[in-house]
Amino acid sequence: MAKNTVLTLAKQVAEGQKVTMVTSYDYTMASIVEAAGINMILVGDSLGMTMLGYDDTIPVTMDDMVHHTRAVTRATSDTFVVGDMPFMSYQLGVEQALANAGRLMKEGGCQAVKLEGGVRCAPQIHTIVEAGIPVVGHVGMTPQSANSFGGFKVQGKSTENAQRIVDDALAVEEAGAFAVVLECVPRDLAEFITSKLTHCFTIGIGAGAGCDGQVLVAQDLLGMTPGGFKPKFVRQFAQVGDAMRQAYVDYAEAVQSGEFPAFENGFKMDPEVMDQIRR
Ligand code: KIV
Ligand code: NA
Repeated sequence: MAKNTVLTLAKQVAEGQKVTMVTSYDYTMASIVEAAGINMILVGDSLGMTMLGYDDTIPVTMDDMVHHTRAVTRATSDTFVVGDMPFMSYQLGVEQALANAGRLMKEGGCQAVKLEGGVRCAPQIHTIVEAGIPVVGHVGMTPQSANSFGGFKVQGKSTENAQRIVDDALAVEEAGAFAVVLECVPRDLAEFITSKLTHCFTIGIGAGAGCDGQVLVAQDLLGMTPGGFKPKFVRQFAQVGDAMRQAYVDYAEAVQSGEFPAFENGFKMDPEVMDQIRR
């Protein structure tokens, strides 16, 4: 696959081809995504749950994001990597947002950053874009604000709420983002927003097939989500969790029975040297 850039991605969308994106948080997983020819990796702050075992994304720090983004970008060359900005790394103002976006790109090696929020984050997006850092917006159900929504709930069902999400998406485009994630919004609304935006493409998660692209959390699509929780908008494309658990069970049994390691897994010793050792 050729290298993905903001230009190739925009061209792909213009030609009516969908953009594919999945989360990755480490070198091994990102190597597999790169080999699969997926367009984009999101090093999501969902790593708070998938990699660190938190209940939500709130505790995730810039240090966490830099650490995982670096691991991912060591594995990628063609995949376009987006680093996620964690809670309270951009809310304080444009200077804080730019400093942290710059850090994620310099130290993490990503090609773009993502932050949650529309109208209220437009100044931050504008400032980061002006500095030469491509930005992905994120509107609809924005997990860092789940406490304000009263939980992880579908957004945009009422007229007022739907209008707010349209305004947010337009503000993100106006501020200069090249793409925007639409999370957990009704499919008709996502399709409408996708048609309204002209130079910013949409990446849906729980937003229907009318978006320009799709993103899923790797653990969800692989069927290895801790606890096995499966939201309505997820499809498990494999049962990797079951396959891994079985491999560990088989390994433990083989060790207990003495069947592993087998003779061929061991190293040969020169018999003469061994004789001298025994003496
Ligand atoms: O952190 C994440 O994984 C995300 C996606 C769900 C869009 O923001
Ligand atoms: Na996120």
